[in-house]
Amino acid sequence: MTLQAIKYHRGQLDILDQLLLPDATHYLEIADTDAAWKAIKKMQVRGAPAIAIVGCLSLTVELNQKKFATLQELKQYVEEKLEYLVSARPTAVNMADASAKGKQMVRKIANAGELEPEEAKLKVIKEFEGMLQKDIDVNKNIGRFGAEHILFHNEEKPVNILTHCNTGSLATAGYGTALGVIRCLQEHKKLSHVYCTETRPYNQGARLTAYELVHEKMDASLICDSTAAACMKEHKVHAVVVGADRVVANGDTANKIGTYQIAIVAKHHNVPFYVACPKTTFDPSIESGKDIHIEVRPNHEMKSVKGVKIAPDDINCWNPAFDVTPASLITGGIITEFGVFKPEELKQRISELDQD
Ligand code: MRU
Repeated sequence: MTLQAIKYHRGQLDILDQLLLPDATHYLEIADTDAAWKAIKKMQVRGAPAIAIVGCLSLTVELNQKKFATLQELKQYVEEKLEYLVSARPTAVNMADASAKGKQMVRKIANAGELEPEEAKLKVIKEFEGMLQKDIDVNKNIGRFGAEHILFHNEEKPVNILTHCNTGSLATAGYGTALGVIRCLQEHKKLSHVYCTETRPYNQGARLTAYELVHEKMDASLICDSTAAACMKEHKVHAVVVGADRVVANGDTANKIGTYQIAIVAKHHNVPFYVACPKTTFDPSIESGKDIHIEVRPNHEMKSVKGVKIAPDDINCWNPAFDVTPASLITGGIITEFGVFKPEELKQRISELDQD
């Protein structure tokens, strides 16, 4: 049985409450965009692709219950709700990308003036529903391209991979991005071992990735974030593969806090460092990583684990949720659904693909 972060059929959206994993498997009903906004903010659903999918599907649930008198009314409603959903978390670009595309789509439908409001609404719902299957297809291509590239550079022999945060079925519609590459290696019996970091302070690695690795019966070890350097020194790590929340024009990449230090360590140990992400994580409107808005999470998320205090109340904290890995440290390449590119070629390749 595959893990399912998002359960959807028309008019009904439920998400696996990721704050309760691995202790409890509890699905939470998302009845409207307000509920989605709150679940995204609280990180009951997290991971760049999953945030965008849950945001858009919550809008379809809401639309399903509403009637619109005119096409313009429908258009305005969809545009406002998409804008609102983008505001839940700032760093991952996928919801902003889905919002821009959703607005374009609803404007086109409304401005054509060919459909009755109810028919137009249904068309908008169907477009958003398509995101679920599309994300799985995209992830499978990412997995295949990434696995092929890594194996080509390792004489097709089984490899050990180090990964950070959670990029699997729980962070996407299914299969995963960086974890999709690992999954594909496993499917081809070319995965020797996975090292997954705990990913403090929210422990997405320990709570979610380790859970997925056990579920998939992969040969894996959980390591502390601070063990990454020792791991690369003491054990053979053939590649580091991580996900991304935003890849900007020059290839600089925002991902879970701690990614940057792993990339530095990988460079020191000559371990190729890969970023795996769909095209929807690419943001060519920002030139370099210094302009990416990094979300800072509340102090209490660092000072307690599941309600147990692990630091004094009065200590101040700095708790950025993401950091930026400069393109120069992404030595293996950026794995996309279209192939593996060097960071410096990404902008050109994506614009070529857009013209096709
Ligand atoms: O704060 P999170 O858990 O949403 O951060 C998730 C990550 O940083 C992932 O690596 C990224 O979103 C890619 S998920 C396919």
